[in-house]
Amino acid sequence: MPANRVRPSPGVSGVGRTIPAVRLTKVPSTRRRPTSLATRVANNAALLRFLARPLRRFAPVLSIGRVVVVTRHADVVDVLERDEDFTIAEVNAATMDRIDGPFILGMDRSERYTRERAILQTCVHPSDGERIREFVTATARELVRATAARGRIDVVQDLVRPAATRLVASYFGVPGPDEATMMRWMRILFWEAFMNSGGDLTVRRAGAQAADELHAHVDDLITAGRAELDRGQQVPDTVLMRLIKAQDDPATRLSDEAVRRNICGVIVGAVDTTNKATAQIIDQLLRDEGALRGAQRAARDGDMQAVAQYSFEALRFQPLNPVLVRHVARDTVIADGTRHRRSVSSGGTVYAAVLPAMFDGAVFGDPNTFRHDRQPAADLNFGHGMHSCFGRYVNHIQIPELVAALLRCDGLRRAPGRQGRLEFEGPFPDRLLVEVVDGPVVARGRV
Ligand code: HEM
Repeated sequence: MPANRVRPSPGVSGVGRTIPAVRLTKVPSTRRRPTSLATRVANNAALLRFLARPLRRFAPVLSIGRVVVVTRHADVVDVLERDEDFTIAEVNAATMDRIDGPFILGMDRSERYTRERAILQTCVHPSDGERIREFVTATARELVRATAARGRIDVVQDLVRPAATRLVASYFGVPGPDEATMMRWMRILFWEAFMNSGGDLTVRRAGAQAADELHAHVDDLITAGRAELDRGQQVPDTVLMRLIKAQDDPATRLSDEAVRRNICGVIVGAVDTTNKATAQIIDQLLRDEGALRGAQRAARDGDMQAVAQYSFEALRFQPLNPVLVRHVARDTVIADGTRHRRSVSSGGTVYAAVLPAMFDGAVFGDPNTFRHDRQPAADLNFGHGMHSCFGRYVNHIQIPELVAALLRCDGLRRAPGRQGRLEFEGPFPDRLLVEVVDGPVVARGRV
């Protein structure tokens, strides 16, 4: 048996049907990996905000050797919009191709990018928002209720990771062989694809193994889905099934392999991103009594628009991606026409520093103050330009609903001592313990 060969598991019950048996093995644990200094710094948003302040003020386009760091809002937006000067393939494609096959987040402007992103977009339907909201609201309430009775909730393990994994099953159409395996696959694959720039070998090996296992699993789902459609059976209306149905039309036809790499690319970006964003939002709200109170009021009033505003303002203080990385594809100039204009040479790397850009006083008045009603909102949380987040429509519903489920619990507060601190496994929040005296109340106007 080759090293990455996996052992069979019994078939499991998924969303509305039995998922074929998968060959399942345990991806090696990365739990006890020592966290590198670079990762610890990257996880410390307060430190990054502090370090970024003088940069934005005195050296807004800082060049150190082949690396350029851009910290003002206008320049970050400009870099992300000039996707032919500042490209992404050199940053993401090699890893993505190795573990999952080509995916839009590793592609530059091209016919293939446009076609595949457009096909993914046809699999998002206007009514999806309501369906996502109903599912996430019910799932979050159930998860919080189940643990609130103990008086303690781990925001990461008891709520957000399982909720996001269940949405991947029910809406995107990829239930795992079991929830724990799926969460493990999603974490290690995201880590290896986007956050293993240091080339940690444990992460690399675990990522390769997880990719093999996930691919075998999703190939089985695609084969089963196609067979059900061919037999005229009723199939669940999921993004994966829509991609399979889209194969019938030459304009939207993807090969089975392309269906697999697209759905895998999408779901890998859906779980630990949501986890990281939500855990950091809760952590940030717990640091700010006034913001917490306001967000709790909004959640109890069922004002989800306001909960979303509180959430994304909190995320501005602790964003998922403090920087977005681009390759300099040709000699060009950044911040042309300003006093800080700088020439950059082809072959360099640009860090478009989203976190400092969202504290740029030229765009965000009184940037260090938490203001849930600020205009513009924290617009760079989900990227900008051609690669801006495909999952935005989900995030704007799922994240506030997860946050609201906690905010509706009586007596919500951080657990005392170390246990109440946000803990990481590598780049991902792994534990955040909060205390509650009672489970979630039903928001006004909701059933
Ligand atoms: C359901 C959840 C999610 C899905 C399905 C998803 C999917 C994606 C995809 C497919 C892309 C690439 C788009 C392209 O190249 O055209 C992307 C980009 C991005 N996503 Fe998401 N995402 C999700 C959640 C999140 C969350 C929670 C955040 C942040 C809080 C986030 C932040 C980003 C950012 C910043 C980019 C741009 C990266 C860059 O420009 O280098 N995503 N997302």
